[in-house]
Amino acid sequence: MHNVAITGTGVFTPDQVITNDELVVAFNAYADQWNAENAMAIESGEAEAKAHSSTDFIVAASGIERRYVLDKEGVLDPKRMFPRLAPRDDEAPGYMAEIGVDAANKALAQAGVAAEDIDLVICAASNMERAYPAIGVEIQELLGAGGFAFDMNVACSSATFGIQTAADMIRSGSIRRALVINPEICSAHLEWRDRDCHFIFGDVATAAVLERDDDLSGDRFSILSTRCATQFSNNIRNNNGYLRRTQDRMEDRRDMQFMQNGRKVFKEVLPLVSQHIAEHMDDTGITAGDLKRLWLHQANKTMNDYIGKKVLGRNPEAGEQPNILQDYANTSSAGSMIAFSKYSDDLADGDKGIICSFGAGYSVGSVIVERRA
Ligand code: COA
Repeated sequence: MHNVAITGTGVFTPDQVITNDELVVAFNAYADQWNAENAMAIESGEAEAKAHSSTDFIVAASGIERRYVLDKEGVLDPKRMFPRLAPRDDEAPGYMAEIGVDAANKALAQAGVAAEDIDLVICAASNMERAYPAIGVEIQELLGAGGFAFDMNVACSSATFGIQTAADMIRSGSIRRALVINPEICSAHLEWRDRDCHFIFGDVATAAVLERDDDLSGDRFSILSTRCATQFSNNIRNNNGYLRRTQDRMEDRRDMQFMQNGRKVFKEVLPLVSQHIAEHMDDTGITAGDLKRLWLHQANKTMNDYIGKKVLGRNPEAGEQPNILQDYANTSSAGSMIAFSKYSDDLADGDKGIICSFGAGYSVGSVIVERRA
């Protein structure tokens, strides 16, 4: 068995930002327009008027203040409320490949690894822009990476499940180096016309280089242990696929986008994640006092505060559990990796931390790391 380390990470951040205020203005304009168009049905009780959204609610319920997106104009057009991502020619790089390659090149540069020395590329994300060929294989080709590639989807837990998958192959000796890439174009599977969730997601891509850690000497995070768990739930669901229940009108296809029962998710996922981390730490011989940092999935600030408190047995100090969701919103599997990439440099040799992601499935994955500097 070989040891494994994360030797580089990279983040692609789109250059377009939507603030809560901009989002709410667009949503409310859409709601007013819809209410006007459906005034008679609303008056007769056949339809329910759409209520306004509010910035205060969004911040209080989630901690989200803004989000990055690939296309702001389409999302904020009250007559459209959906990004304009034109289908590309088959010969041109896809959207996921393009942003995944950007993040991957940053991770390779930090690791000091050449693309051709990569043996495995995993594109791990919550939604693929096509069925096949795998986005991972396209990224492999664009990077000039060696070996093989594939896609995997465990929704918001895709990054940690991808890390465990790659780490297991490095441990066993079947590969030496891997890239785990998480291009998350959440704006394309969010229903921006649904007040309950229109504020939740943003776009981003993250990447991590994993290497055999038997003879490395530079800055890195040795992976001490990985663990994944799943438990079926319908409370976060997206039915998009080849079984279309209704084909014709966008309005009839609500289930082809992200749907959730947020309250239930909140209640059910918290104990699942807290227990998962506690057991993983216990089995690895790590105590709360050993942990210098928690890089948690970024869905909801209250949720993260709760998990941090449960894991550490006290309120986390500033910086111990960095949140990035105020700037990026929920970026599905990429959230914990953005936090890890941006808030890990200051750790000293021997400092330990946990990357943890969780979400649809339900699924939860944790990676316990130790800084070597
Ligand atoms: N603006 C103003 N009011 C809104 C609103 C908006 N955008 N969206 C919902 N509301 C209203 C609701 O209609 C509800 O009104 P009511 O009390 O009159 O029925 C009230 O605000 C509370 O809504 P609720 O959905 O119960 O809010 P919440 O406190 O549960 O917060 C979430 C919603 C989604 C932020 C929260 O449940 C959550 O984060 N859950 C976990 C989600 C998660 O981690 N998902 C994983 C995704 S990968």
